[in-house]
Amino acid sequence: VSLRPYNTFGIDASARYFTAFRSQEELLTVLAAPEWKHARRLILGGGSNILLTQDFDGIVLKNELKGIRVVREDEEFVYVQAGAGENWHGFVMHCIAQGLAGLENLSLIPGNVGASPMQNIGAYGVEIKDTFYELEAFHLSDHALVKFNKEACAFGYRESVFKREYKDQFVILNVTYKLNKKPYFNTSYGAIEQELERMGVTTPSVRAISDAVINIRSSKLPDPAKIGNAGSFFKNPEVTREKYEALKEAFPEVVAYPLPGDHFKLAAGWLIEQCGWKGYRNGDAGVHARQALVLVNYGNAKGEELVELSWKVVDSVKEKFGVVLEREVNIV
Ligand code: FAD
Ligand code: EPU
Repeated sequence: VSLRPYNTFGIDASARYFTAFRSQEELLTVLAAPEWKHARRLILGGGSNILLTQDFDGIVLKNELKGIRVVREDEEFVYVQAGAGENWHGFVMHCIAQGLAGLENLSLIPGNVGASPMQNIGAYGVEIKDTFYELEAFHLSDHALVKFNKEACAFGYRESVFKREYKDQFVILNVTYKLNKKPYFNTSYGAIEQELERMGVTTPSVRAISDAVINIRSSKLPDPAKIGNAGSFFKNPEVTREKYEALKEAFPEVVAYPLPGDHFKLAAGWLIEQCGWKGYRNGDAGVHARQALVLVNYGNAKGEELVELSWKVVDSVKEKFGVVLEREVNIV
């Protein structure tokens, strides 16, 4: 089965077996099937954060668990649970339509709800950990149903237990978010303020912030339907104050944000652009012309070509700035 339609990088790798599951029972049936019992497994959502580097000699399980429901409500909050196979942006739009606040800054992030806790998706000053309540996951070998609260997920910047110690062990079935009835606006990210102003919005609303985020994202991030990509290929690196000050001395223009604990986060896009990669293209593998942190597939690039390009980017940034970029995208 070709996986090309199932990954936003548009890589033409194939899977030995492919099946979708719409319920926990269907998942159990697949896991119990004798012919697939010992096969390698890949849980797939929207395929917007993976890079396929070879054919997958196992079974791809596409999560299509649907449903959105309110599981609890109190004075201040509504607890909304969504099936892992729900489209993320659709879920955000649903919550906004219900007058609920907390996810608007995360509008238009591709992919499904089930992957949202994997790397604690984030954008424009907000991460899902800010509104995450709990999730239910199914252990692939024990077949046990396990609940994870926020603490158990050990969220960090683009990190969680599911990306580290529990990698490939659980299928996330559903996720519950604790959303505000009364909006609390997060416009700390400069670009949002600017966009609201450009839009002529004087009093912000959840809807206006969502619209602003959608406008900003559409202006610089490539649409996977047109150019293959998986968003930021690398994480923004965190450095000590000492390192930051040395960089600032040598490169006064360096783009960085202070973090708690006397650390600084550097804009990897800036580092990569300074190394001359922005708009680079070799065959069909390239670096996006409007956002250097995004590697792109112009058509028929192989996963390996993108990995090779990514190593060249890492080497040049290391050589020029002494900073080692870490990958964000999941390599399969
Ligand atoms: P997939 O790519 O299908 O899977 C990602 C990983 O999670 C894989 O390892 C997979 O095995 C695992 N997985 C998926 N679903 C489950 C499940 N139910 N249970 C267990 N494991 C599972 N990310 C951000 O954080 N912020 C952004 O602003 C952002 N912008 C992006 C912009 C573009 C244009 C693109 C293409 C991507 C962007 N991303 C961003 C990355 C991506 O959207 C997110 O990582 C998203 O959560 C991936 O969801 P998915 O369903 O496509 O995951
Ligand atoms: N910059 C450049 N050149 C570039 C790109 C960026 O100089 O080519 C500099 C600019 O100064 C810009 C700054 O970097 O102001 C930050 O750029 P941007 O606002 O585009 O954000 P980012 O740091 O590149 C991060 C996330 C994105 C998220 C945005 C908005 C990571 C790895 N990436 O990108 O997430 O949407 O902030 O919050 O943290 C993703 O994870 O896939 C993703 C797209």
